[in-house]
Amino acid sequence: MKIVTVVGARPQFIKAAAITRAVQTNYQQIQEILVHTGQHYDYLMDRIFFEELEIPKPNYHLGVGSGSHGKQTGVMLERIEAILQKEKPDRVLVFGDTNSTLAGALAAGKMHIPIAHVEAGLRSYNRRMPEEINRLLTDHLSTYLFCPTDQAVQNLSKEGIRNGKGKIVKNVGDVMYDSILYYSTIAEKKSAILEELGLLIPDSSHLTDYYLATLHRAENTDDPQKLRSILKALNVIGEEVPVILPLHPRTKKMIDFHRLSGETQHIKMIDPISYLNMLVLEKNARAVLTDSGGVQKEAYWFRVPCITLREETEWVETVRWGWNVLAGTETERIIEGVNQAVKKQHASKTTHPFGNGKASWKILNLLTKH
Ligand code: UD1
Ligand code: UDP
Repeated sequence: MKIVTVVGARPQFIKAAAITRAVQTNYQQIQEILVHTGQHYDYLMDRIFFEELEIPKPNYHLGVGSGSHGKQTGVMLERIEAILQKEKPDRVLVFGDTNSTLAGALAAGKMHIPIAHVEAGLRSYNRRMPEEINRLLTDHLSTYLFCPTDQAVQNLSKEGIRNGKGKIVKNVGDVMYDSILYYSTIAEKKSAILEELGLLIPDSSHLTDYYLATLHRAENTDDPQKLRSILKALNVIGEEVPVILPLHPRTKKMIDFHRLSGETQHIKMIDPISYLNMLVLEKNARAVLTDSGGVQKEAYWFRVPCITLREETEWVETVRWGWNVLAGTETERIIEGVNQAVKKQHASKTTHPFGNGKASWKILNLLTKH
């Protein structure tokens, strides 16, 4: 069976790593052709993940780069179509909700190639997010809907997408959980990020308390008021306890554009970091502040309190089980959210709504058997 896998953005490399490893170790009957759209291209947003997670070099690199949604998706669509014409795969595999996801799904859908969507069924019910449009359309085009949670299966059911009648809709668990289980032991051994940031004194066990923050959602970074208000909260928090903020290039660009760097003197802003370094920083943080989908889940898996810098989340289980608070973007609410989250140490430790770390195997089983 020939599968074309389409990736392009940072979280997709981490998700694809889990599948690719499973293909290589146990599914030799699958020929996987890896297509990288080039949506992310800086070394620290792209190649570092291929190197560290030992993902094979993509068979095709489309070099699409940044652009408006229409342009970026359109160029990807044209180039992916050409590859599908040449490769004639049995399935096209897409992940998550980026423009690369939608382009892969559209190209395959128009060519009648069955689409497998990993991380299907997530909804924020906020159509102002480009991701919500991408995931809605991809789900409706897909034949295989690999859901990470029961909630995702229910969300699809509400839209009439159910198992049966030519569709496979299954809760297989979360491939990012597969990745975190596999890579966190490696991260413990290999990462020296705590020492590099001066949070752990070498040869001592004294770990400084710190918060980890990430910020990149367009709805936050591209609204100067929201961006200022979030940075203000991080700056206030950073006066008491260090706040480490690995900066997404989008956020860096907007901070520079709005000349906000003068208001961030108590935030330790660093370049984007590798996945292994990220896992170590997440695991040891007092709490995590983020608008990232993946980071909310990783905080949950490490049972580290999370303060989400959004009004809603697709990962409702993390809130339901008491590990995540939705704080929005107002300075006071974020600070209050941190106090609330850190005090509640903490809710249920026994729930596993994201599967058992074998999502990739389940996906490949379903793909090869049906
Ligand atoms: C994209 C996804 C988002 C995902 C995120 C993961 C869409 C619509 N959004 O958002 O769902 O959560 O990736 O990180 O697909 N840039 C660089 N270097 C890079 C990549 C980006 O400088 O390697 C800058 C460019 O100025 C670019 C901006 O970041 O215009 C935004 O990049 P883009 O890929 O369009 O969206 P993300 O915000 O990264
Ligand atoms: N991540 C990383 N380095 C960073 C920031 C994030 O390795 O500097 C990882 C993070 O651990 C998670 C994934 O990237 O696995 C999340 O990606 P991102 O926040 O870019 O996108 P989202 O999940 O919101 O789509």
